Amino acid sequence: MKNNSNQTCELLEKLPGPSDPQSGITSSQHYMDNQLYTIPAIRRYEKMFGAGYVSTGGPITTKEFVDLLNLKPGQKVLDVGCGIGGGDFYMAKTFGVEVLGVDLSHNMVAIATERARAANLPSVRFEVCDATKGTFPENSFNVIYSKGVLMHIRDKLALMKRFHSWLKPGGQLLISDDCCGEKPWTPVFEAYVKRRGCYLCTPAQYGQLIQEAGFCNVRAEDRTAQFICLVQAELQQAEANKDQFIEELSEEDYLAMVNRWNEKLECSNSGDHRWGLFHATKN
Ligand SMILES: C[S@@+](CC[C@H](N)C(=O)[O-])C[C@H]1O[C@@H](n2cnc3c(N)ncnc32)[C@H](O)[C@@H]1O
Repeated sequence: MKNNSNQTCELLEKLPGPSDPQSGITSSQHYMDNQLYTIPAIRRYEKMFGAGYVSTGGPITTKEFVDLLNLKPGQKVLDVGCGIGGGDFYMAKTFGVEVLGVDLSHNMVAIATERARAANLPSVRFEVCDATKGTFPENSFNVIYSKGVLMHIRDKLALMKRFHSWLKPGGQLLISDDCCGEKPWTPVFEAYVKRRGCYLCTPAQYGQLIQEAGFCNVRAEDRTAQFICLVQAELQQAEANKDQFIEELSEEDYLAMVNRWNEKLECSNSGDHRWGLFHATKN
């Protein structure tokens, strides 16, 4: 899916057989589009996180984190796991950068592409791409940005090495992601990680992986306290707007989100669910 009006490209690919016969998941892309990020699920998350966003803090944390990058007009940014593109529109409009947003999910990219077209923003493009398989020439980007994505990636080190090669010398890597505390975890968190199929590490381990991939000036911050405040605020906002939420979506959606947010609070207060912010540069 490219950003060319009236042009449709269809790539048909024979998928491998079910990797998990019990759940019926045939591939991670199928899992994203048909289970985790269906169109109704994306609408529910967007309602909780804010227009354009599918990750913690939505526009608030995006602005805070992007400000760390000191972006300059004309710079090239790759957003890995861009979702529905809120962060990309923000960066392009505010700083005049060129953004390529890539995401494994067709659903996410379809929504993002439609919104880019409606906003008439040619400096933002979206493509369906598995970040663990797609390729870009070496030294292509000034910034690689990724928010709430790498929890889905098993081999984070291999992906960090790819990021390192795609960045220009002096380029910056900025990641925020769900992390975990040291085991043992509570049964609630164990069940959550299993259900979502996440691959989590501690903020310190995350920082070591970035260092091992060849980055320098690595800053790895445990932002769990901020995460707890954000989750509480998102929950309170949903509860305060309950009637409107139910009118626009459904009572089932509302209850699913409230239960999920309470579970996040339980797991982050127990120290199992952590949240990290990572910033590094390429020499
Ligand atoms: C929680 S959403 C975050 C979206 C967006 N970054 C935001 O902050 O709103 C996680 C995104 O990662 C994408 N994703 C997961 N695995 C991926 C992969 N291997 N390559 C590219 N995107 C991936 C999912 O499809 C989903 O859109």
